[in-house]
Amino acid sequence: MKITYPIKNSSHCFEVMNGMPAIKKLIASKIQEQGTEDAFFIADLGAVVEKHLEWISMMPRVLPFYAVKCNNDPGIVQFLASLGTGFDCASKAEIEQVLSLGVDPSRIIYANPCKMKSYIRFAKEKNVSLMTFDNENELQKVKAFYPEAHLVIRILPPASKAICNLGCKFGVEPEKALPLLQKAKNMGLNVVGVSFHVGSGCLEAEAFKKAISAARKVFDQAKVIGYNFNLLDIGGGFPGFDQPEINFDEVTQTINTSLDELFPDDDDLRIIAEPGRYYATSAYTLAVNVIAKREEVEAEPVEEDKARVMYYINDGVYGSFNCLLYDHAEVTPDYLKEVESKATITSSLWGPTCDGLDCILKNCAMPSLEVGEWLCFKNMGAYTLVAGSTFNGMPRPNVYYYIEDTRWLQMLVMMPSQDSIQLVLKEFDVAKPVPDLQELVVSDVKCCAPEC
Ligand SMILES: Cc1ncc(COP(=O)(O)O)c(C=O)c1O
Repeated sequence: MKITYPIKNSSHCFEVMNGMPAIKKLIASKIQEQGTEDAFFIADLGAVVEKHLEWISMMPRVLPFYAVKCNNDPGIVQFLASLGTGFDCASKAEIEQVLSLGVDPSRIIYANPCKMKSYIRFAKEKNVSLMTFDNENELQKVKAFYPEAHLVIRILPPASKAICNLGCKFGVEPEKALPLLQKAKNMGLNVVGVSFHVGSGCLEAEAFKKAISAARKVFDQAKVIGYNFNLLDIGGGFPGFDQPEINFDEVTQTINTSLDELFPDDDDLRIIAEPGRYYATSAYTLAVNVIAKREEVEAEPVEEDKARVMYYINDGVYGSFNCLLYDHAEVTPDYLKEVESKATITSSLWGPTCDGLDCILKNCAMPSLEVGEWLCFKNMGAYTLVAGSTFNGMPRPNVYYYIEDTRWLQMLVMMPSQDSIQLVLKEFDVAKPVPDLQELVVSDVKCCAPEC
């Protein structure tokens, strides 16, 4: 019997699995079940729980405020809301989405330094008081529409290696922070802290150290003009998976050391972060179908390195692979069918639209595939489905949600309202019991939540 629970704000459910099968096995069974060639995502929500456990055990002083912009899929947002994270919202729609899950407005930071006036009014209406700024015009808007807001100055951290540089658009240079803060003070505005973003896909753990040090200086300058800051926001930029250049372990060690040195334990100081890809990347795998194939005519001379076979799949650059353009991502296909021969051929991989730009891989060594075969792409949760379009009338892939039963139980144990499992289940609008709860003894479940 399948055990499923509804996902709020969607017509979908997530399925609790008795042990999580290998991803390819899960994809194969979903293909059978859906009976169509449509592309789809598998969302392993257990991976989100795992990431959260890792975060709170490795960086206990830093509260994560998930950056909704990274992936606003209802599954991940609902799970993080239930796990008790905060949220970084960039717009009215993101604030609405998070509030609709019953999240308290105090768990939101409106972390867009350049906001529409009407959105500032909306934030006031909904009591979302924490918001960032990096320029004087923004202060004037806040003064006019939400003078009681709790403002956070976003500074430009020292340059670092990152896949997506955000410093070209946001952040006041630290040396210009004091005059800007003085203006806020003269306007009677309540600035409560400092934020920064080291760049999305940051490749240098040291970037956090330098940025925390720059933030410390701004804290000290603010004190001189009468502000007593109580919030440090260390932004996003955490890796979605470990890479040779950077891994989460190294990042957390660097951050913890810097915080202990420059922001020693202080009950009045709240430290938050805005991780996006850290939570979303590994939880989503994309499965696509080879819908067409073109082969070079054998007799024609083929330039070395020129793709000899062109494969067309049913998601592309205008859909989930927009990450190739906007997120500078690199993707690698995996084959659902066991590849019998090791022989490969120089191939190219194309999306389904009629545009020549819609190319996923220009030149890659691939085994021979037939029309109708399936490929999958792992680590596709960040900056993918959130920005996909339906250009050329191509539909967005469906998402199928799963969680392994032991992770589901960990999640229940960690959820803030733990009076009883039944009460917790109510948060999910669920009348059904947890599967095999009798067999899963709560004390056997490894959980590093501070409350446990
Ligand atoms: C203000 C802000 N916070 C957080 C994030 C999330 O960054 P990441 O996904 O690298 O953690 C972004 C990404 O653009 C951002 O602009």
